[in-house]
Amino acid sequence: MSFKAVLRGCGAFLPEKVLTNDDLSKRVDTSDEWIRERTGIRERHVASEGELTSDLAAHAARAALKDAGLTADDIDLIIVATTTPDLTFPSTAAIVQAKIGAGAGAAFDIQAVCTGFVYALSTAEKFLCAGQHKRALVIGAETFSRILDWEDRGTCVLFGDGAGAFVLEAQEESEAGDRGVMASFLRCDGRLVDLLYVDGGVSATQSTGYVRMQGNKVFREAVTRISQAMVAVCEEANVPVTDIDWFVPHQANERIIQGVVKKLDLRNDQVISTIAGQGNTSAASIPLAYCAGVADGRIKKGDLVLFEAMGGGLTWGAALMRV
Ligand code: UT7
Repeated sequence: MSFKAVLRGCGAFLPEKVLTNDDLSKRVDTSDEWIRERTGIRERHVASEGELTSDLAAHAARAALKDAGLTADDIDLIIVATTTPDLTFPSTAAIVQAKIGAGAGAAFDIQAVCTGFVYALSTAEKFLCAGQHKRALVIGAETFSRILDWEDRGTCVLFGDGAGAFVLEAQEESEAGDRGVMASFLRCDGRLVDLLYVDGGVSATQSTGYVRMQGNKVFREAVTRISQAMVAVCEEANVPVTDIDWFVPHQANERIIQGVVKKLDLRNDQVISTIAGQGNTSAASIPLAYCAGVADGRIKKGDLVLFEAMGGGLTWGAALMRV
Protein backbone atom coordinates (compact mmCIF):
# COMPACT_ATOMS: atom_id res chain seq x y z
CA MET A 1 0.00 0.00 0.00
CA SER A 2 1.21 3.48 -0.79
CA PHE A 3 0.50 6.31 1.68
CA LYS A 4 0.61 10.10 1.61
CA ALA A 5 0.86 12.45 4.62
CA VAL A 6 -2.21 14.69 4.47
CA LEU A 7 -2.90 17.76 6.64
CA ARG A 8 -6.11 17.26 8.67
CA GLY A 9 -5.93 20.36 10.88
CA CYS A 10 -3.81 23.07 12.42
CA GLY A 11 -3.70 25.04 15.66
CA ALA A 12 -1.85 28.02 17.09
CA PHE A 13 -1.14 29.50 20.48
CA LEU A 14 0.50 32.74 21.55
CA PRO A 15 1.14 33.72 25.18
CA GLU A 16 -0.94 36.64 26.38
CA LYS A 17 1.92 38.92 27.39
CA VAL A 18 3.07 41.30 24.63
CA LEU A 19 6.37 43.16 24.44
CA THR A 20 6.42 46.14 22.05
CA ASN A 21 9.45 47.74 20.41
CA ASP A 22 8.92 50.73 22.68
CA ASP A 23 9.07 48.42 25.72
CA LEU A 24 12.43 47.12 24.47
CA SER A 25 13.79 50.61 23.82
CA LYS A 26 13.50 51.17 27.58
CA ARG A 27 15.82 48.19 28.22
CA VAL A 28 18.46 48.49 25.46
CA ASP A 29 19.77 51.17 23.09
CA THR A 30 17.29 50.62 20.25
CA SER A 31 14.18 52.22 18.78
CA ASP A 32 10.86 51.21 17.29
CA GLU A 33 11.99 52.80 14.02
CA TRP A 34 15.23 50.76 13.82
CA ILE A 35 13.51 47.46 14.62
CA ARG A 36 10.64 48.02 12.17
CA GLU A 37 12.88 49.19 9.33
CA ARG A 38 15.52 46.46 9.71
CA THR A 39 13.22 43.52 10.57
CA GLY A 40 9.51 44.35 10.10
CA ILE A 41 8.82 43.50 13.76
CA ARG A 42 6.48 45.71 15.85
CA GLU A 43 5.85 43.48 18.84
CA ARG A 44 6.24 39.90 20.06
CA HIS A 45 4.52 37.63 22.60
CA VAL A 46 6.47 36.45 25.64
CA ALA A 47 5.66 33.55 27.98
CA SER A 48 4.87 34.44 31.59
CA GLU A 49 6.74 32.98 34.52
CA GLY A 50 5.78 29.33 34.87
CA GLU A 51 4.41 29.13 31.32
CA LEU A 52 6.50 26.41 29.65
CA THR A 53 7.20 25.37 26.07
CA SER A 54 5.10 22.24 26.68
CA ASP A 55 2.17 24.42 27.81
CA LEU A 56 2.27 26.45 24.59
CA ALA A 57 2.67 23.24 22.57
CA ALA A 58 -0.25 21.53 24.34
CA HIS A 59 -2.54 24.53 23.67
CA ALA A 60 -1.61 24.49 19.96
CA ALA A 61 -1.99 20.69 19.81
CA ARG A 62 -5.49 20.80 21.31
CA ALA A 63 -6.50 23.52 18.83
CA ALA A 64 -5.14 21.43 15.92
CA LEU A 65 -7.01 18.33 17.12
CA LYS A 66 -10.22 20.35 17.36
CA ASP A 67 -9.68 21.73 13.86
CA ALA A 68 -9.10 18.18 12.58
CA GLY A 69 -12.22 16.86 14.34
CA LEU A 70 -10.06 14.35 16.23
CA THR A 71 -9.13 13.59 19.84
CA ALA A 72 -5.79 12.85 21.48
CA ASP A 73 -6.67 9.12 21.32
CA ASP A 74 -6.36 9.29 17.53
CA ILE A 75 -2.67 10.32 17.69
CA ASP A 76 0.12 7.72 17.59
CA LEU A 77 3.08 10.00 16.87
CA ILE A 78 4.09 13.34 18.41
CA ILE A 79 7.08 15.28 17.13
CA VAL A 80 7.96 18.57 18.81
CA ALA A 81 10.45 20.85 17.08
CA THR A 82 12.00 23.02 19.76
CA THR A 83 15.27 24.62 20.83
CA THR A 84 13.83 25.57 24.21
CA PRO A 85 12.66 22.28 25.80
CA ASP A 86 11.14 22.31 29.29
CA LEU A 87 13.92 20.04 30.57
CA THR A 88 17.12 18.46 29.34
CA PHE A 89 15.13 15.23 29.36
CA PRO A 90 12.58 13.79 28.83
CA SER A 91 11.62 15.28 25.50
CA THR A 92 9.04 18.05 25.43
CA ALA A 93 7.03 15.71 23.17
CA ALA A 94 6.74 13.22 26.06
CA ILE A 95 5.46 15.98 28.36
CA VAL A 96 3.00 17.20 25.72
CA GLN A 97 1.77 13.63 25.21
CA ALA A 98 0.84 13.46 28.90
CA LYS A 99 -0.62 16.99 29.00
CA ILE A 100 -3.03 16.36 26.10
CA GLY A 101 -3.80 12.80 27.24
CA ALA A 102 -2.59 11.02 24.12
CA GLY A 103 -1.99 7.26 24.23
CA ALA A 104 1.37 5.53 24.16
CA GLY A 105 2.42 6.18 20.58
CA ALA A 106 5.89 7.43 19.72
CA ALA A 107 6.98 10.88 20.92
CA PHE A 108 10.26 12.70 20.46
CA ASP A 109 11.80 16.14 19.90
CA ILE A 110 13.68 17.46 16.91
CA GLN A 111 16.39 20.09 17.26
CA ALA A 112 17.10 22.04 14.11
CA VAL A 113 16.54 25.50 15.62
CA CYS A 114 14.50 27.75 13.29
CA THR A 115 14.40 25.00 10.62
CA GLY A 116 12.95 22.60 13.19
CA PHE A 117 9.39 22.61 11.87
CA VAL A 118 10.48 21.76 8.32
CA TYR A 119 12.67 18.94 9.70
CA ALA A 120 9.76 17.68 11.85
CA LEU A 121 7.25 17.83 8.99
CA SER A 122 9.59 15.91 6.70
CA THR A 123 10.31 13.33 9.43
CA ALA A 124 6.61 12.82 10.21
CA GLU A 125 5.86 12.39 6.52
CA LYS A 126 8.41 9.56 6.33
CA PHE A 127 6.95 7.81 9.42
CA LEU A 128 3.41 8.08 8.01
CA CYS A 129 4.32 7.07 4.47
CA ALA A 130 6.18 4.01 5.82
CA GLY A 131 2.80 2.86 7.14
CA GLN A 132 4.01 2.49 10.75
CA HIS A 133 1.99 5.37 12.20
CA LYS A 134 -1.46 6.63 11.33
CA ARG A 135 -1.77 10.17 12.71
CA ALA A 136 0.91 12.60 13.82
CA LEU A 137 0.94 15.83 15.75
CA VAL A 138 3.79 17.92 14.38
CA ILE A 139 4.42 20.85 16.69
CA GLY A 140 6.78 23.81 16.63
CA ALA A 141 6.99 25.38 20.11
CA GLU A 142 9.41 27.83 21.67
CA THR A 143 10.03 29.99 24.70
CA PHE A 144 13.02 31.74 23.10
CA SER A 145 12.64 34.58 25.62
CA ARG A 146 14.33 32.26 28.13
CA ILE A 147 17.59 32.05 26.15
CA LEU A 148 17.86 35.73 25.18
CA ASP A 149 20.49 38.03 26.58
CA TRP A 150 18.23 40.99 27.35
CA GLU A 151 21.24 43.31 27.21
CA ASP A 152 22.20 42.30 23.64
CA ARG A 153 20.22 44.58 21.31
CA GLY A 154 21.43 42.56 18.31
CA THR A 155 19.33 39.55 19.35
CA CYS A 156 16.81 40.40 22.08
CA VAL A 157 14.64 42.51 19.74
CA LEU A 158 14.22 39.70 17.21
CA PHE A 159 12.59 36.74 18.93
CA GLY A 160 9.21 35.86 20.44
CA ASP A 161 7.44 32.89 22.03
CA GLY A 162 4.61 30.76 20.66
CA ALA A 163 3.53 27.39 19.28
CA GLY A 164 1.82 25.99 16.22
CA ALA A 165 0.72 22.44 15.40
CA PHE A 166 -0.31 20.35 12.40
CA VAL A 167 -2.24 17.07 12.50
CA LEU A 168 -0.99 14.90 9.65
CA GLU A 169 -2.74 11.69 8.63
CA ALA A 170 -1.51 8.73 6.57
CA GLN A 171 -3.99 8.29 3.73
CA GLU A 172 -3.87 5.83 0.86
CA GLU A 173 -3.17 7.53 -2.45
CA SER A 174 -6.68 6.81 -3.71
CA GLU A 175 -8.16 8.68 -0.70
CA ALA A 176 -5.59 11.51 -0.60
CA GLY A 177 -5.85 12.41 -4.30
CA ASP A 178 -3.40 15.22 -5.00
CA ARG A 179 -3.33 16.38 -1.35
CA GLY A 180 -0.39 15.75 0.99
CA VAL A 181 3.29 16.52 1.43
CA MET A 182 4.76 16.48 -2.09
CA ALA A 183 8.47 17.08 -1.44
CA SER A 184 10.89 18.21 1.23
CA PHE A 185 14.53 19.30 1.29
CA LEU A 186 16.70 19.39 4.43
CA ARG A 187 20.26 20.65 4.71
CA CYS A 188 22.84 21.53 7.39
CA ASP A 189 26.34 22.98 7.15
CA GLY A 190 27.91 22.51 10.59
CA ARG A 191 30.97 24.53 9.60
CA LEU A 192 28.79 27.61 10.10
CA VAL A 193 27.94 26.92 13.77
CA ASP A 194 29.64 30.13 14.90
CA LEU A 195 27.20 32.35 13.01
CA LEU A 196 24.28 31.46 15.29
CA TYR A 197 24.47 29.39 18.47
CA VAL A 198 23.79 29.36 22.22
CA ASP A 199 26.86 29.78 24.42
CA GLY A 200 25.84 27.15 26.97
CA GLY A 201 24.55 23.62 27.24
CA VAL A 202 24.52 20.39 29.18
CA SER A 203 27.89 19.01 28.18
CA ALA A 204 29.79 22.23 27.53
CA THR A 205 28.86 24.43 30.49
CA GLN A 206 26.11 22.70 32.49
CA SER A 207 24.09 25.88 32.00
CA THR A 208 21.52 27.09 29.49
CA GLY A 209 23.42 29.94 27.85
CA TYR A 210 22.26 32.77 25.60
CA VAL A 211 21.71 33.21 21.88
CA ARG A 212 24.76 34.59 20.06
CA MET A 213 24.43 35.66 16.44
CA GLN A 214 26.46 37.36 13.76
CA GLY A 215 23.23 38.70 12.30
CA ASN A 216 24.56 40.29 9.14
CA LYS A 217 26.52 37.13 8.23
CA VAL A 218 23.41 34.97 8.74
CA PHE A 219 21.46 37.50 6.68
CA ARG A 220 23.93 37.19 3.80
CA GLU A 221 23.53 33.38 3.73
CA ALA A 222 19.76 33.42 3.98
CA VAL A 223 18.26 34.39 0.63
CA THR A 224 20.54 32.11 -1.43
CA ARG A 225 20.14 29.01 0.72
CA ILE A 226 16.39 29.43 1.25
CA SER A 227 15.81 29.99 -2.47
CA GLN A 228 17.92 26.90 -3.28
CA ALA A 229 15.71 24.79 -0.99
CA MET A 230 12.47 26.19 -2.44
CA VAL A 231 13.58 25.57 -6.03
CA ALA A 232 14.69 22.02 -5.08
CA VAL A 233 11.29 20.98 -3.68
CA CYS A 234 9.44 22.53 -6.61
CA GLU A 235 11.70 20.74 -9.10
CA GLU A 236 11.19 17.44 -7.27
CA ALA A 237 7.41 17.92 -7.46
CA ASN A 238 7.63 19.20 -11.04
CA VAL A 239 5.84 22.46 -10.17
CA PRO A 240 7.09 25.93 -11.25
CA VAL A 241 7.79 27.95 -8.09
CA THR A 242 5.50 30.73 -9.30
CA ASP A 243 2.56 28.25 -9.48
CA ILE A 244 2.29 27.97 -5.69
CA ASP A 245 -0.75 29.49 -4.05
CA TRP A 246 0.95 30.46 -0.78
CA PHE A 247 4.47 31.09 0.41
CA VAL A 248 4.62 30.47 4.19
CA PRO A 249 8.18 31.40 5.20
CA HIS A 250 9.98 31.19 8.50
CA GLN A 251 9.53 34.66 9.98
CA ALA A 252 13.10 35.80 10.72
CA ASN A 253 13.23 39.13 8.92
CA GLU A 254 10.80 40.81 6.50
CA ARG A 255 13.79 41.85 4.36
CA ILE A 256 14.85 38.18 3.96
CA ILE A 257 11.29 37.25 2.96
CA GLN A 258 11.21 40.09 0.43
CA GLY A 259 14.63 39.06 -0.92
CA VAL A 260 13.33 35.55 -1.61
CA VAL A 261 10.10 36.89 -3.17
CA LYS A 262 12.17 39.03 -5.54
CA LYS A 263 14.72 36.31 -6.38
CA LEU A 264 12.05 33.72 -7.22
CA ASP A 265 9.61 36.12 -8.97
CA LEU A 266 6.86 35.52 -6.44
CA ARG A 267 4.14 38.08 -5.75
CA ASN A 268 3.66 39.80 -2.41
CA ASP A 269 0.04 38.68 -2.28
CA GLN A 270 1.28 35.06 -2.15
CA VAL A 271 3.15 35.66 1.12
CA ILE A 272 1.81 34.93 4.60
CA SER A 273 3.71 37.21 6.97
CA THR A 274 3.13 37.34 10.72
CA ILE A 275 6.46 38.85 11.67
CA ALA A 276 5.07 42.28 12.61
CA GLY A 277 3.03 40.94 15.52
CA GLN A 278 5.05 37.87 16.52
CA GLY A 279 8.73 38.41 15.72
CA ASN A 280 10.86 35.32 15.11
CA THR A 281 9.33 32.42 17.03
CA SER A 282 11.94 29.99 15.68
CA ALA A 283 10.43 26.50 15.10
CA ALA A 284 6.92 27.82 15.81
CA SER A 285 6.87 30.50 13.13
CA ILE A 286 5.80 28.38 10.15
CA PRO A 287 2.75 26.69 11.72
CA LEU A 288 1.79 29.99 13.37
CA ALA A 289 1.89 31.77 10.00
CA TYR A 290 0.05 28.92 8.29
CA CYS A 291 -2.72 29.04 10.92
CA ALA A 292 -3.00 32.81 10.48
CA GLY A 293 -3.50 32.30 6.73
CA VAL A 294 -6.21 29.69 7.35
CA ALA A 295 -7.92 31.73 10.07
CA ASP A 296 -8.35 34.82 7.87
CA GLY A 297 -9.62 32.72 4.96
CA ARG A 298 -6.69 33.15 2.59
CA ILE A 299 -5.43 29.54 2.60
CA LYS A 300 -8.08 27.03 1.52
CA LYS A 301 -8.26 23.26 1.22
CA GLY A 302 -6.54 22.11 -1.96
CA ASP A 303 -4.11 25.07 -2.13
CA LEU A 304 -0.44 24.53 -2.92
CA VAL A 305 1.72 25.80 -0.05
CA LEU A 306 5.49 26.23 0.07
CA PHE A 307 7.29 26.38 3.45
CA GLU A 308 10.92 27.34 4.06
CA ALA A 309 13.27 28.06 6.94
CA MET A 310 16.88 28.69 7.90
CA GLY A 311 18.44 28.67 11.35
CA GLY A 312 21.32 27.74 13.63
CA GLY A 313 23.60 24.99 12.42
CA LEU A 314 23.30 26.44 9.87
CA THR A 315 20.27 24.40 8.95
CA TRP A 316 17.88 25.21 6.13
CA GLY A 317 15.12 23.52 4.21
CA ALA A 318 11.78 23.66 2.45
CA ALA A 319 8.64 21.60 2.04
CA LEU A 320 5.88 21.67 -0.57
CA MET A 321 2.39 20.52 0.35
CA ARG A 322 -1.09 20.49 -1.18
CA VAL A 323 -3.22 21.15 1.90
O1 UT7 B 1 15.85 32.68 12.42
C1 UT7 B 1 17.20 32.38 12.46
C2 UT7 B 1 17.93 33.09 11.42
N1 UT7 B 1 18.15 34.45 11.79
C3 UT7 B 1 18.13 35.37 10.89
O2 UT7 B 1 17.85 35.09 9.75
C4 UT7 B 1 18.52 36.77 11.24
C5 UT7 B 1 19.33 37.34 10.15
N2 UT7 B 1 19.85 38.65 10.39
C6 UT7 B 1 19.08 39.76 10.48
O3 UT7 B 1 17.88 39.69 10.45
C7 UT7 B 1 19.78 41.10 10.53
O4 UT7 B 1 21.15 40.91 10.30
C8 UT7 B 1 19.58 41.86 11.86
C9 UT7 B 1 18.14 42.36 11.95
C10 UT7 B 1 19.89 40.95 13.03
C11 UT7 B 1 20.49 43.09 11.89
O5 UT7 B 1 20.26 43.93 10.79
P1 UT7 B 1 21.49 44.43 9.88
O6 UT7 B 1 20.91 45.34 8.90
O7 UT7 B 1 22.20 43.20 9.38
O8 UT7 B 1 22.36 45.24 10.92
P2 UT7 B 1 23.86 44.99 11.38
O9 UT7 B 1 23.97 43.78 12.24
O10 UT7 B 1 24.77 45.06 10.20
O11 UT7 B 1 24.09 46.25 12.28
C12 UT7 B 1 24.02 47.59 11.76
C13 UT7 B 1 24.08 48.57 12.91
C14 UT7 B 1 25.24 48.29 13.87
O12 UT7 B 1 25.74 49.54 14.30
P3 UT7 B 1 27.07 50.17 13.65
O13 UT7 B 1 28.15 49.17 13.88
O14 UT7 B 1 26.74 50.36 12.21
O15 UT7 B 1 27.22 51.45 14.41
C15 UT7 B 1 24.59 47.60 15.03
O16 UT7 B 1 25.31 47.76 16.23
O17 UT7 B 1 22.89 48.47 13.72
C16 UT7 B 1 23.27 48.29 15.09
N3 UT7 B 1 22.22 47.54 15.76
C17 UT7 B 1 21.14 48.12 16.31
N4 UT7 B 1 20.78 49.41 16.42
C18 UT7 B 1 19.61 49.68 17.05
C19 UT7 B 1 22.12 46.19 15.91
N5 UT7 B 1 21.01 45.90 16.58
C20 UT7 B 1 20.37 47.07 16.85
C21 UT7 B 1 19.18 47.40 17.50
N6 UT7 B 1 18.84 48.71 17.57
N7 UT7 B 1 18.35 46.48 18.03
